[in-house]
Amino acid sequence: MKDFLYIANWKMAKPFTQALHFVKNNKFKLAKLAQSHKTVICPSFVSLYPIIQELQNTSIKVGAQNCSAFAPGAYTGQVSAKSLKEVGCSYCIIGHSERRQYNHETNEEIAQKLELLLKNELQPIICIGESEQAFKNKKTKPILTEQLQPLLQILQKISFKKPIYFAYEPVWAIGSGIIPSNDYLSEITRWLGQQCTTQVPGLDIRIIYGGSVNPNNAASLKAIESINGFLIGSASLDFQKLKKIVS
Ligand code: PGA
Repeated sequence: MKDFLYIANWKMAKPFTQALHFVKNNKFKLAKLAQSHKTVICPSFVSLYPIIQELQNTSIKVGAQNCSAFAPGAYTGQVSAKSLKEVGCSYCIIGHSERRQYNHETNEEIAQKLELLLKNELQPIICIGESEQAFKNKKTKPILTEQLQPLLQILQKISFKKPIYFAYEPVWAIGSGIIPSNDYLSEITRWLGQQCTTQVPGLDIRIIYGGSVNPNNAASLKAIESINGFLIGSASLDFQKLKKIVS
């Protein structure tokens, strides 16, 4: 059985009280699930600390959905990788397409975040993916190459002992219920893995998939050899759905 990672990206969907209730109500079931399946929950910033406290002594890991591209300093409203490490996060998502879209994040800024995560020993979950337009124009690989370049430059200069996750998330598959074909996903994720390992040999890079993963398509997606995990949005908000995807 391959080493598969399940990441619940709660986005801004669960406000503080709801997020905490979810964890308290499902704590033992979640803990049981995580004993045999690597599971990460990514709530919003303010929920991180209480959730980490609640899940102490379980195998469930907690991750953030973003971090600042700067080290601690005069950056109003931002949260540093250092703070995330101090509150007990293990992972951090960066480069999500919603941040690229609504916060105009650039590939270079995302690379700066990657550098700070590595320096603070947080495991990065780096999102990349093409728009629907790029997909239709058969520009997926050039777009991914552009997104990868500054990231791989960082990975070339900083060594890191734990696996680094690249989440391939075609923008048109996020929240749309549309899933690329298995053949397409297999080709792109294998190609991504090759790009990473040829440019940064020796690094433990894993490719995961995100975009409309649900209990009905999970088994078929898991069968794709080059996919080593899922980044799950809306289906992760419901414990029963999450459980069905994981197990
Ligand atoms: P979705 O979101 O599962 O709701 O499509 C995935 C993501 O944005 O990470």
